[in-house]
Amino acid sequence: MRPDWPELSDLILDTDPVTLERRPVSRATVHAVLEAHGMRAARRILDRIGGGDTLDPNEVDGVLVRAHAELQRLAFEFRNGERGLMLLRPLLDVLRRDRAGRPLRIVDIGCGMGFLLRWLAAHGRLGADVELVGCDFNPTLIAAAQALADEERLAVEFRVANAFTLERPADVYLSSGVLHHFRGEDLDRFFGMQAQTGARAMLHLDIKASWAAPLGAWIFHRARMREPLAQHDGVLSAIRAHPRDALLAAATGAGRPLVYALFDGRPSPLPILRTLNVVVGLHPSLVDPYVEGLGPLSARLEAFA
Ligand SMILES: C[S@@+](CC[C@H](N)C(=O)[O-])C[C@H]1O[C@@H](n2cnc3c(N)ncnc32)[C@H](O)[C@@H]1O
Repeated sequence: MRPDWPELSDLILDTDPVTLERRPVSRATVHAVLEAHGMRAARRILDRIGGGDTLDPNEVDGVLVRAHAELQRLAFEFRNGERGLMLLRPLLDVLRRDRAGRPLRIVDIGCGMGFLLRWLAAHGRLGADVELVGCDFNPTLIAAAQALADEERLAVEFRVANAFTLERPADVYLSSGVLHHFRGEDLDRFFGMQAQTGARAMLHLDIKASWAAPLGAWIFHRARMREPLAQHDGVLSAIRAHPRDALLAAATGAGRPLVYALFDGRPSPLPILRTLNVVVGLHPSLVDPYVEGLGPLSARLEAFA
C-alpha cells in the first residue's frame, strides 16, 4: 500500500456536493483506478459488490454501514470522545465570553454514523446553549446516526448536507478520521472553506503519521474488523495520514484568518501511545485565553502559526 492510493470507500460512492444527488458509479471506472495503482486486494473487494456495469447502491450502502459500524470500535478504543471533549470544553468557555446570547453551533464535517457527536451528547455535559449538528453526504449513514441518537434520546441533529454550505454556519467545526481523505488542493479547500464561513474555531482529529501507525492499524483491523473494506481502508488510512508539516502548511496557507497548531503532533519515541493528533484552528483573538484555559494540557499543543 502507498500514500497515493485512493481509499475504496471514496471510489464507490459519488455525491454531487451542491445538489447532494447520488451519481451512479461505473464499475469499469473504479476498476480502472484500482488497476492503475496496482490495488489487487481492493479489486477483490470491488468484485464482491453486486450490480452490473453500475454498482448496486444498496450493496454499496450495506458495505459502508458495516464498515462505519466497525470504525466506531476504533473511535471507542482511541477515546476520540474524551480527546475531543478535553479540547472542546475550554474552547466553549472562551467562545461563551462574547457570543451575545446566541447558541454555539458545533458542526461535525463528514460525521458518518456520528460517534463523536453522540458521545459528546451522552457524556460531554456541554451545556444547553450548545447545538450539535452532524453532516454527511451519505443519507444511509445519516439515517443510522439519527436512529442511534434517537434511541438514546440524545440532543444531536444529523443532516444530509454539505457541512460548508449550512444556512447558519458553525462556531466550531469538528471532524474525526476525515483529514486524510482530502489530498492536495482538496485539503487546502477543506481549510479555506471553513475559514471563509466565519467560523472562529476548528478541531480536526485524525490518525497521527508515524512509522508505527500502519503496523498498529494492521493489528487492530485484523483483530477487531471483519468487513473487508474496513480492513483494507483502515490500514491504508494509516499510510495516508498526513505528516505534520503537510497539515500545517495546508491549514496556514489556505485557512486564514485563523491560526493553527497541532495537539499531540510532536514526534514521539513510542508513537503507539500517541495514535491521533488534532489540528486546532482558532481566531487569533482566542489563542491566549484558550491556551490558558487548557491548563497543563497546553504542554501538548505546539505554538500557533
Ligand atoms: C471517513 S468518512 C467519516 C468518518 C466519521 N467521521 C467517523 O468517525 O466514523 C468521511 C465522510 O465525509 C463525508 N464528507 C466529505 N466531505 C463532506 C462535506 N463537505 N460535508 C459533509 N460530509 C462530507 C463523506 O460523505 C464521508 O462519509
